[in-house]
Amino acid sequence: MRFYLKTTAIALALAATVGSVKADGHGGVEVLHWWTSGGEAAALNVLKDDLEGQGIGWTDMPVAGGGGEQAMTVLRARVTAGNAPTAVQGLGFDIIDWANQGALANLNEVAAAEGWDEVVPTALQQFAKVNGAWVSAPVNVHSTNWVWANKAVLDANGIAAPETWEDFVAALEALSAAGITPIAHGGQAWQEATVFDGVAMSVLGPDGYKAAFVDLDPEVLGGDAMKEAFDRMAVIRANVDENFSGRDWNLATAMVINGEAGFQMMGDWAKGEFLNAGQVPGEDFLCFRFPGTQDQVTFNADQFMMFDQGGSVSAEQAALASAILSPSFQSAFNVVKGSVPARTDVSDADFDACGKQGMADLAAAASSGNLFGSMAHGHANEAAVKNAMYDVITAHFNGEFDSETAVEELVTAVEIAQ
Ligand code: BGC
Repeated sequence: MRFYLKTTAIALALAATVGSVKADGHGGVEVLHWWTSGGEAAALNVLKDDLEGQGIGWTDMPVAGGGGEQAMTVLRARVTAGNAPTAVQGLGFDIIDWANQGALANLNEVAAAEGWDEVVPTALQQFAKVNGAWVSAPVNVHSTNWVWANKAVLDANGIAAPETWEDFVAALEALSAAGITPIAHGGQAWQEATVFDGVAMSVLGPDGYKAAFVDLDPEVLGGDAMKEAFDRMAVIRANVDENFSGRDWNLATAMVINGEAGFQMMGDWAKGEFLNAGQVPGEDFLCFRFPGTQDQVTFNADQFMMFDQGGSVSAEQAALASAILSPSFQSAFNVVKGSVPARTDVSDADFDACGKQGMADLAAAASSGNLFGSMAHGHANEAAVKNAMYDVITAHFNGEFDSETAVEELVTAVEIAQ
């Protein structure tokens, strides 16, 4: 049923776009993205307004589905039909893949004029600049190893923000005893993988995380620490409500906002939902790094890939790229989105406490060797490997494998996917 609904949504999105693309012609951009939740749409409006202020028309091509899997399916169909959108939200290795297929326009002229080389963090440039050519415009830096909590619920139950796994387990037990759902979770493979980013980092440590998810070392993928990470996932599974299956991530965030649940483990796009609901960090909700990963940042950066429209980069694509990289836009957009700027020279003055922490954590992690691309959001490895990991993590979460079987399956699935 879910597959049918997804497929239908994609078919409708494709049908709806054909007319708009042709009608759009010159003078505008068609933007394919998956920013459809309340907080995401509020952030997207900052970008739309910016462009409209410059007289550039916007044809919206939203494809719902957190993490972007459905959006990428629509994109492949559009490119195959010879009808690529002007600009497309993309993540990590997917961008490199499209660039290597020769599908993306070269933005070097605008990048050079605006000095992107000097201000975009090196960790992002590896996904934005392929074989010496800038092919996408980085919008932000998100990170996945965060926990979001309802402050009133924690206070009422005498719980402080947990700093260790043991503290966290004690907090889950206290909430459960009080009849509150300890963890708000949406049962979708990408959400389970997002939780796994933080959980695996907490057990494997930075070297182990890199060895497993970036270097794909079978010893680490199949080792005792990985088994322990799966054991922790089983504890998390035991603390979600019974209706978790298939739930969208923003509906899980709403459970924390409403006080139905204590915690959610999710990337900092969740903050956009709290803000959109009028909540204030430190007063209504808390943000903190997943216990045991306080020094690490597992990042993903949204970028807009500019698809080659048959020639050099268009004036509208260059204007969009330039608008995205402008320091004032980077501040205004990321304040709303929950992410942090994709430039190193933007002030944190307009950011709230979680945003300021996010910016400080990113800078500290980058300089101490603790910054890693998120496995769950396509910044550690190519899509085939990522999807192989998703399958095992989600099968274990849903009780198909015990932890010992999960590590064995992980080694095999990754080997086959390479
Ligand atoms: C994107 C975010 C988005 C989230 C949920 C992530 O992959 O990087 O921008 O808000 O998915 O849709």
